[in-house]
Amino acid sequence: MYSIQALQDIIIQAIAGKKYPEEPAELYEPMQYMMNLGGKRLRPALLLMGCDAFGGDIYQAINPAIAIEVFHNFTLMHDDIMDNAPIRRGKTTVHEKWNSSVGILSGDAMLVEGYKLMMQVDEKVLRPVLEIFNHTAIAVCEGQQLDMNFEQLKEVRIESYINMIRLKTAVVLGGALKIGALIAGATKTEADLIYAFGEDLGIAFQLQDDILDVYGNPEKFGKQVGGDILSNKKTYLLIKALETADATQFQELNSWLQLTNFDAVKKVSAVKNLFDQMEIREKAEQEMNRYAQRALQSLKDLPLDEAQKSQLYEFADMLLVREN
Ligand code: IPE
Ligand code: IPE
Ligand code: MG
Ligand code: MG
Ligand code: MG
Repeated sequence: MYSIQALQDIIIQAIAGKKYPEEPAELYEPMQYMMNLGGKRLRPALLLMGCDAFGGDIYQAINPAIAIEVFHNFTLMHDDIMDNAPIRRGKTTVHEKWNSSVGILSGDAMLVEGYKLMMQVDEKVLRPVLEIFNHTAIAVCEGQQLDMNFEQLKEVRIESYINMIRLKTAVVLGGALKIGALIAGATKTEADLIYAFGEDLGIAFQLQDDILDVYGNPEKFGKQVGGDILSNKKTYLLIKALETADATQFQELNSWLQLTNFDAVKKVSAVKNLFDQMEIREKAEQEMNRYAQRALQSLKDLPLDEAQKSQLYEFADMLLVREN
Protein backbone atom coordinates (compact mmCIF):
# COMPACT_ATOMS: atom_id res chain seq x y z
CA MET A 1 0.00 0.00 0.00
CA TYR A 2 1.14 3.51 -0.73
CA SER A 3 0.86 6.10 2.04
CA ILE A 4 -1.25 9.20 1.33
CA GLN A 5 1.94 11.26 1.41
CA ALA A 6 3.63 9.02 -1.16
CA LEU A 7 0.63 9.26 -3.47
CA GLN A 8 0.51 13.02 -3.13
CA ASP A 9 4.21 13.28 -3.93
CA ILE A 10 3.66 11.27 -7.10
CA ILE A 11 0.76 13.54 -8.09
CA ILE A 12 2.62 16.76 -7.34
CA GLN A 13 5.55 15.60 -9.47
CA ALA A 14 3.34 14.57 -12.35
CA ILE A 15 1.53 17.92 -12.31
CA ALA A 16 4.75 19.91 -12.04
CA GLY A 17 6.07 18.11 -15.12
CA LYS A 18 3.11 19.16 -17.27
CA LYS A 19 3.73 22.05 -19.62
CA TYR A 20 1.04 23.73 -21.65
CA PRO A 21 1.58 25.36 -25.09
CA GLU A 22 2.84 28.97 -25.11
CA GLU A 23 0.31 30.45 -27.50
CA PRO A 24 -2.25 31.91 -27.16
CA ALA A 25 -0.85 32.97 -23.80
CA GLU A 26 -4.25 34.18 -22.50
CA LEU A 27 -5.61 30.66 -22.95
CA TYR A 28 -2.76 28.61 -21.50
CA GLU A 29 -1.17 30.83 -18.87
CA PRO A 30 -4.24 30.79 -16.62
CA MET A 31 -4.27 26.98 -16.85
CA GLN A 32 -0.66 26.81 -15.79
CA TYR A 33 -1.30 29.42 -13.08
CA MET A 34 -4.29 27.58 -11.68
CA MET A 35 -2.67 24.15 -11.74
CA ASN A 36 0.41 25.47 -9.98
CA LEU A 37 -1.32 27.41 -7.20
CA GLY A 38 -1.13 24.34 -5.01
CA GLY A 39 -4.25 22.95 -3.45
CA LYS A 40 -4.65 19.79 -1.46
CA ARG A 41 -4.77 17.43 -4.47
CA LEU A 42 -7.41 15.36 -2.72
CA ARG A 43 -9.27 14.04 -5.72
CA PRO A 44 -6.26 12.57 -7.55
CA ALA A 45 -5.12 11.05 -4.25
CA LEU A 46 -8.54 9.42 -3.89
CA LEU A 47 -8.41 8.08 -7.42
CA LEU A 48 -5.02 6.46 -6.79
CA MET A 49 -6.19 5.17 -3.41
CA GLY A 50 -9.24 3.56 -5.03
CA CYS A 51 -6.88 1.79 -7.40
CA ASP A 52 -4.38 0.80 -4.73
CA ALA A 53 -7.07 -0.50 -2.34
CA PHE A 54 -8.21 -3.01 -4.97
CA GLY A 55 -4.67 -4.14 -5.73
CA GLY A 56 -4.26 -2.21 -8.99
CA ASP A 57 -1.07 -0.72 -10.41
CA ILE A 58 -1.31 2.97 -9.53
CA TYR A 59 0.88 3.88 -12.50
CA GLN A 60 -2.01 2.79 -14.75
CA ALA A 61 -4.12 5.40 -12.98
CA ILE A 62 -1.81 8.43 -13.00
CA ASN A 63 -3.27 10.10 -16.09
CA PRO A 64 -6.88 9.71 -14.89
CA ALA A 65 -5.76 11.03 -11.49
CA ILE A 66 -4.29 14.15 -13.11
CA ALA A 67 -7.44 14.35 -15.24
CA ILE A 68 -9.68 14.59 -12.18
CA GLU A 69 -7.48 17.34 -10.73
CA VAL A 70 -7.52 19.31 -14.01
CA PHE A 71 -11.29 18.91 -14.08
CA HIS A 72 -11.54 20.09 -10.46
CA ASN A 73 -9.42 23.15 -11.24
CA PHE A 74 -11.65 23.95 -14.22
CA THR A 75 -14.68 23.88 -11.91
CA LEU A 76 -12.89 26.20 -9.47
CA MET A 77 -11.98 28.67 -12.21
CA HIS A 78 -15.61 28.93 -13.27
CA ASP A 79 -16.89 28.77 -9.69
CA ASP A 80 -14.81 31.82 -8.80
CA ILE A 81 -16.45 33.79 -11.61
CA MET A 82 -19.90 32.67 -10.45
CA ASP A 83 -19.13 33.39 -6.78
CA ASN A 84 -17.34 36.64 -7.56
CA ALA A 85 -14.41 35.40 -5.48
CA PRO A 86 -11.27 37.55 -5.23
CA ILE A 87 -8.83 34.95 -3.90
CA ARG A 88 -8.17 31.27 -4.35
CA ARG A 89 -5.42 29.37 -2.57
CA GLY A 90 -4.13 32.66 -1.22
CA LYS A 91 -3.66 34.20 -4.70
CA THR A 92 -5.69 36.41 -7.03
CA THR A 93 -8.37 34.46 -8.90
CA VAL A 94 -8.02 34.05 -12.67
CA HIS A 95 -10.95 36.29 -13.59
CA GLU A 96 -9.50 39.08 -11.39
CA LYS A 97 -5.93 38.65 -12.61
CA TRP A 98 -7.02 38.47 -16.27
CA ASN A 99 -10.77 38.84 -16.89
CA SER A 100 -13.94 36.72 -16.95
CA SER A 101 -13.73 35.87 -20.66
CA VAL A 102 -10.25 34.51 -20.11
CA GLY A 103 -11.51 32.53 -17.10
CA ILE A 104 -14.38 31.04 -19.08
CA LEU A 105 -12.32 29.99 -22.08
CA SER A 106 -9.29 28.69 -20.16
CA GLY A 107 -11.73 26.75 -18.00
CA ASP A 108 -13.33 25.24 -21.12
CA ALA A 109 -9.90 24.21 -22.39
CA MET A 110 -9.17 22.58 -19.02
CA LEU A 111 -12.33 20.51 -19.27
CA VAL A 112 -11.14 19.23 -22.66
CA GLU A 113 -7.66 18.61 -21.25
CA GLY A 114 -9.29 16.63 -18.45
CA TYR A 115 -11.05 14.39 -21.00
CA LYS A 116 -7.85 13.88 -23.00
CA LEU A 117 -6.08 12.67 -19.85
CA MET A 118 -9.01 10.57 -18.66
CA MET A 119 -8.97 8.66 -21.96
CA GLN A 120 -5.47 7.44 -21.25
CA VAL A 121 -6.53 4.19 -19.63
CA ASP A 122 -6.56 0.58 -20.68
CA GLU A 123 -9.01 -0.03 -23.54
CA LYS A 124 -10.88 -2.55 -21.36
CA VAL A 125 -12.02 0.07 -18.87
CA LEU A 126 -12.17 3.12 -21.14
CA ARG A 127 -15.93 3.11 -21.60
CA PRO A 128 -16.98 2.62 -17.95
CA VAL A 129 -14.38 5.16 -16.82
CA LEU A 130 -15.71 7.77 -19.26
CA GLU A 131 -19.27 6.99 -18.21
CA ILE A 132 -18.44 7.80 -14.58
CA PHE A 133 -16.57 10.92 -15.63
CA ASN A 134 -19.56 12.11 -17.70
CA HIS A 135 -21.91 11.40 -14.85
CA THR A 136 -19.65 13.31 -12.47
CA ALA A 137 -19.20 16.31 -14.75
CA ILE A 138 -22.90 16.81 -15.42
CA ALA A 139 -23.71 16.40 -11.71
CA VAL A 140 -21.30 19.24 -10.89
CA CYS A 141 -23.07 21.50 -13.42
CA GLU A 142 -26.46 20.62 -11.90
CA GLY A 143 -25.20 21.25 -8.38
CA GLN A 144 -23.60 24.55 -9.33
CA GLN A 145 -26.83 25.76 -10.96
CA LEU A 146 -28.85 24.78 -7.88
CA ASP A 147 -26.31 26.57 -5.68
CA MET A 148 -26.89 29.77 -7.66
CA ASN A 149 -30.67 29.32 -7.78
CA PHE A 150 -30.74 28.91 -4.00
CA GLU A 151 -29.04 32.31 -3.50
CA GLN A 152 -32.27 33.90 -4.71
CA LEU A 153 -34.65 31.76 -2.65
CA LYS A 154 -35.99 32.81 0.74
CA GLU A 155 -36.27 29.28 2.00
CA VAL A 156 -34.29 26.18 1.17
CA ARG A 157 -34.83 22.86 2.91
CA ILE A 158 -31.85 21.06 4.47
CA GLU A 159 -32.69 18.10 2.26
CA SER A 160 -32.41 20.23 -0.89
CA TYR A 161 -29.15 21.70 0.35
CA ILE A 162 -27.69 18.23 0.96
CA ASN A 163 -28.73 17.19 -2.53
CA MET A 164 -27.12 20.33 -3.98
CA ILE A 165 -23.77 19.70 -2.27
CA ARG A 166 -23.93 16.03 -3.17
CA LEU A 167 -24.10 17.09 -6.81
CA LYS A 168 -21.62 19.96 -6.83
CA THR A 169 -18.97 18.38 -4.61
CA ALA A 170 -19.54 14.87 -3.30
CA VAL A 171 -20.04 13.14 -6.63
CA VAL A 172 -16.49 14.08 -7.67
CA LEU A 173 -14.95 12.45 -4.58
CA GLY A 174 -17.06 9.32 -5.06
CA GLY A 175 -16.35 9.33 -8.81
CA ALA A 176 -12.59 9.59 -8.27
CA LEU A 177 -12.56 6.53 -6.00
CA LYS A 178 -14.80 4.57 -8.34
CA ILE A 179 -12.65 5.29 -11.39
CA GLY A 180 -9.57 4.17 -9.47
CA ALA A 181 -11.34 0.99 -8.36
CA LEU A 182 -12.44 0.14 -11.92
CA ILE A 183 -8.91 0.64 -13.24
CA ALA A 184 -7.78 -1.89 -10.63
CA GLY A 185 -10.38 -4.37 -11.89
CA ALA A 186 -12.88 -4.09 -9.02
CA THR A 187 -16.36 -5.50 -9.63
CA LYS A 188 -19.30 -3.16 -10.09
CA THR A 189 -20.57 -3.94 -6.56
CA GLU A 190 -17.19 -3.15 -5.04
CA ALA A 191 -16.90 0.03 -7.08
CA ASP A 192 -20.39 1.12 -5.95
CA LEU A 193 -19.48 0.58 -2.30
CA ILE A 194 -16.34 2.66 -2.51
CA TYR A 195 -18.37 5.30 -4.35
CA ALA A 196 -20.85 5.47 -1.44
CA PHE A 197 -17.97 6.05 0.96
CA GLY A 198 -16.66 8.89 -1.23
CA GLU A 199 -20.05 10.50 -1.64
CA ASP A 200 -20.81 10.66 2.09
CA LEU A 201 -17.29 11.83 2.78
CA GLY A 202 -17.79 14.50 0.12
CA ILE A 203 -20.96 15.75 1.82
CA ALA A 204 -19.08 16.01 5.12
CA PHE A 205 -16.25 17.75 3.25
CA GLN A 206 -18.54 20.43 1.76
CA LEU A 207 -20.20 20.98 5.15
CA GLN A 208 -16.72 21.57 6.53
CA ASP A 209 -15.99 23.96 3.63
CA ASP A 210 -19.11 25.95 4.52
CA ILE A 211 -18.03 26.10 8.18
CA LEU A 212 -14.52 27.24 7.22
CA ASP A 213 -15.98 29.93 4.98
CA VAL A 214 -17.27 31.63 8.14
CA TYR A 215 -14.92 30.38 10.85
CA GLY A 216 -11.68 29.66 8.96
CA ASN A 217 -8.39 31.32 9.85
CA PRO A 218 -7.89 33.95 7.10
CA GLU A 219 -4.12 33.26 7.11
CA LYS A 220 -4.62 29.60 6.31
CA PHE A 221 -7.95 29.40 4.51
CA GLY A 222 -6.71 30.85 1.19
CA LYS A 223 -10.14 32.19 0.25
CA GLN A 224 -12.09 35.28 1.26
CA VAL A 225 -13.54 34.52 4.71
CA GLY A 226 -17.25 35.37 4.77
CA GLY A 227 -17.70 35.10 1.00
CA ASP A 228 -20.74 32.84 1.40
CA ILE A 229 -22.38 35.34 3.78
CA LEU A 230 -21.81 38.20 1.34
CA SER A 231 -23.56 36.36 -1.49
CA ASN A 232 -26.41 34.94 0.63
CA LYS A 233 -25.31 31.37 -0.09
CA LYS A 234 -27.80 28.95 1.34
CA THR A 235 -25.20 27.00 3.25
CA TYR A 236 -26.13 24.64 6.04
CA LEU A 237 -25.26 27.45 8.46
CA LEU A 238 -27.64 29.99 6.98
CA ILE A 239 -30.47 27.51 6.47
CA LYS A 240 -30.15 26.30 10.05
CA ALA A 241 -30.00 29.87 11.36
CA LEU A 242 -33.18 30.80 9.51
CA GLU A 243 -34.78 27.70 10.99
CA THR A 244 -33.56 28.29 14.57
CA ALA A 245 -33.99 32.07 14.86
CA ASP A 246 -36.55 33.65 17.19
CA ALA A 247 -38.65 36.52 15.81
CA THR A 248 -36.05 39.23 16.50
CA GLN A 249 -33.13 37.21 15.17
CA PHE A 250 -35.13 36.22 12.11
CA GLN A 251 -35.91 39.82 11.32
CA GLU A 252 -32.31 40.92 11.76
CA LEU A 253 -30.98 38.09 9.62
CA ASN A 254 -33.54 38.75 6.91
CA SER A 255 -32.80 42.44 6.78
CA TRP A 256 -29.13 41.63 6.05
CA LEU A 257 -30.18 39.17 3.35
CA GLN A 258 -32.34 41.77 1.67
CA LEU A 259 -29.89 44.68 1.69
CA THR A 260 -28.36 45.29 -1.71
CA ASN A 261 -26.00 48.04 -0.58
CA PHE A 262 -24.05 47.16 2.52
CA ASP A 263 -20.66 47.35 4.15
CA ALA A 264 -19.10 43.91 3.61
CA VAL A 265 -17.26 43.78 6.93
CA LYS A 266 -20.39 44.80 8.84
CA LYS A 267 -22.59 42.23 7.13
CA VAL A 268 -20.16 39.38 7.77
CA SER A 269 -19.73 40.31 11.42
CA ALA A 270 -23.47 40.80 12.05
CA VAL A 271 -24.45 37.49 10.45
CA LYS A 272 -21.63 35.68 12.20
CA ASN A 273 -22.78 37.16 15.48
CA LEU A 274 -26.28 35.80 14.89
CA PHE A 275 -24.82 32.38 14.01
CA ASP A 276 -22.90 32.44 17.30
CA GLN A 277 -25.99 33.31 19.33
CA MET A 278 -27.74 30.27 17.83
CA GLU A 279 -24.75 27.90 18.11
CA ILE A 280 -24.86 27.30 14.40
CA ARG A 281 -21.25 26.20 14.13
CA GLU A 282 -21.86 23.34 16.56
CA LYS A 283 -25.01 22.31 14.69
CA ALA A 284 -23.14 22.29 11.38
CA GLU A 285 -20.34 20.23 12.92
CA GLN A 286 -22.88 17.69 14.16
CA GLU A 287 -24.29 17.34 10.66
CA MET A 288 -20.78 17.00 9.24
CA ASN A 289 -19.99 14.25 11.74
CA ARG A 290 -23.19 12.45 10.87
CA TYR A 291 -22.09 12.17 7.23
CA ALA A 292 -18.54 11.28 8.25
CA GLN A 293 -19.95 8.39 10.31
CA ARG A 294 -22.04 7.23 7.37
CA ALA A 295 -18.94 7.30 5.19
CA LEU A 296 -17.04 5.20 7.72
CA GLN A 297 -19.89 2.70 7.81
CA SER A 298 -19.66 2.23 4.02
CA LEU A 299 -15.94 1.77 4.38
CA LYS A 300 -16.51 -0.86 7.05
CA ASP A 301 -18.87 -2.72 4.72
CA LEU A 302 -16.33 -2.74 1.91
CA PRO A 303 -15.21 -6.35 1.34
CA LEU A 304 -11.48 -5.68 1.67
CA ASP A 305 -8.88 -6.51 4.31
CA GLU A 306 -8.44 -3.93 7.02
CA ALA A 307 -4.89 -3.32 5.78
CA GLN A 308 -6.19 -2.40 2.32
CA LYS A 309 -8.60 0.08 3.86
CA SER A 310 -6.17 1.66 6.30
CA GLN A 311 -5.20 4.56 4.04
CA LEU A 312 -8.85 5.37 3.34
CA TYR A 313 -9.58 5.56 7.07
CA GLU A 314 -6.62 7.83 7.52
CA PHE A 315 -7.70 10.01 4.63
CA ALA A 316 -11.20 10.43 6.09
CA ASP A 317 -9.75 11.48 9.45
CA MET A 318 -7.36 13.93 7.86
CA LEU A 319 -9.98 15.50 5.62
CA LEU A 320 -12.26 16.62 8.41
CA VAL A 321 -9.68 18.40 10.52
CA ARG A 322 -8.35 20.57 7.70
CA GLU A 323 -7.78 24.32 7.89
CA ASN A 324 -8.00 25.15 4.17
C1 IPE B 1 -12.68 23.44 -3.08
O1 IPE B 1 -12.09 22.18 -3.08
C2 IPE B 1 -14.05 23.33 -3.62
C3 IPE B 1 -14.95 22.48 -2.83
C4 IPE B 1 -15.58 21.51 -3.34
C5 IPE B 1 -15.16 22.77 -1.42
P1 IPE B 1 -10.75 21.90 -2.28
O2 IPE B 1 -10.90 22.37 -0.89
O3 IPE B 1 -10.36 20.49 -2.50
O4 IPE B 1 -9.73 22.87 -3.03
P2 IPE B 1 -8.16 22.74 -3.27
O5 IPE B 1 -8.00 21.98 -4.56
O6 IPE B 1 -7.53 22.02 -2.13
O7 IPE B 1 -7.70 24.15 -3.40
C1 IPE C 1 -17.61 24.72 -4.96
O1 IPE C 1 -18.33 25.10 -3.86
C2 IPE C 1 -17.98 23.51 -5.67
C3 IPE C 1 -17.32 23.47 -6.98
C4 IPE C 1 -16.24 24.11 -7.30
C5 IPE C 1 -17.89 22.64 -7.98
P1 IPE C 1 -17.79 26.45 -3.21
O2 IPE C 1 -18.15 27.62 -4.06
O3 IPE C 1 -18.16 26.45 -1.78
O4 IPE C 1 -16.19 26.23 -3.31
P2 IPE C 1 -15.13 27.27 -2.81
O5 IPE C 1 -15.43 27.54 -1.36
O6 IPE C 1 -15.25 28.49 -3.66
O7 IPE C 1 -13.81 26.56 -2.97
MG1 MG D 1 -19.60 28.08 -5.45
MG1 MG E 1 -16.88 29.32 -4.53
MG1 MG F 1 -16.97 27.21 -0.19
